[in-house]
Amino acid sequence: MIPKNFRDRVIAPSLLAADFSCIGEEVSRAIRAGADWMHLDVMDGHFVDNISFGPAVVQTVHESNDIYLDVHLMISRPDHYLQRFVAAGSDMITVHVEADHDVAETLRRIREAGCEAGLALNPATPMSAVEPFLDQIDLLLCMTVVPGFGGQAFMPEVLEKITTAARWREEKNLSFHIEVDGGIDAVTAARCYTAGANVMVAGSSTFRAPSMSDAVAEIRNA
Ligand code: DX5
Ligand code: ZN
Repeated sequence: MIPKNFRDRVIAPSLLAADFSCIGEEVSRAIRAGADWMHLDVMDGHFVDNISFGPAVVQTVHESNDIYLDVHLMISRPDHYLQRFVAAGSDMITVHVEADHDVAETLRRIREAGCEAGLALNPATPMSAVEPFLDQIDLLLCMTVVPGFGGQAFMPEVLEKITTAARWREEKNLSFHIEVDGGIDAVTAARCYTAGANVMVAGSSTFRAPSMSDAVAEIRNA
């Protein structure tokens, strides 16, 4: 799988909104609908107020299909569990700056393991928190909802952070994707592209759409 350039639009349906009784088929459906990446939300019931799935499900997805796996770790100790998500077949591993770990060290280990490294920040976290790590990442995830649940409303105040991230990337001559996650549909995606984001995570608006292909195309062409 060839990694995408940060100038490419990437649509990443979130497995959280899929039918868990047939995960492999749901991922195939996303691929047929035109998905570029699969976004996998790992929640530990501690960093966020919900529990989703762990490395075994990541591995199942990895073995059932050939699609780039964008693994979003909403867990308190990403450093402790990192190796298991590497072994499960993750391509991108995104950790939160707010979690309890040495962020620089975790990012270094993700790349050393042969994965791409992502860093996420919650809507309430200022951009200054991620600034020291921008030369160590392949993706910056600006959460557009408070993480924990699918189906929440997009928070427009995050757009300003996307603009800042894109400006810093330009000024510092860096190279990383800017991803948004939470409440993304064709309407909010258009606003995020304009602000400078290129990776759109979309759960409810893709998996629960009458036509997933139409939904993915609408987000891509927004
Ligand atoms: C939120 C998760 C999201 C979620 C998005 O905690 O990180 O990836 O699945 O779901 P929608 O697109 O339904 O807002
Ligand atoms: Zn996510």
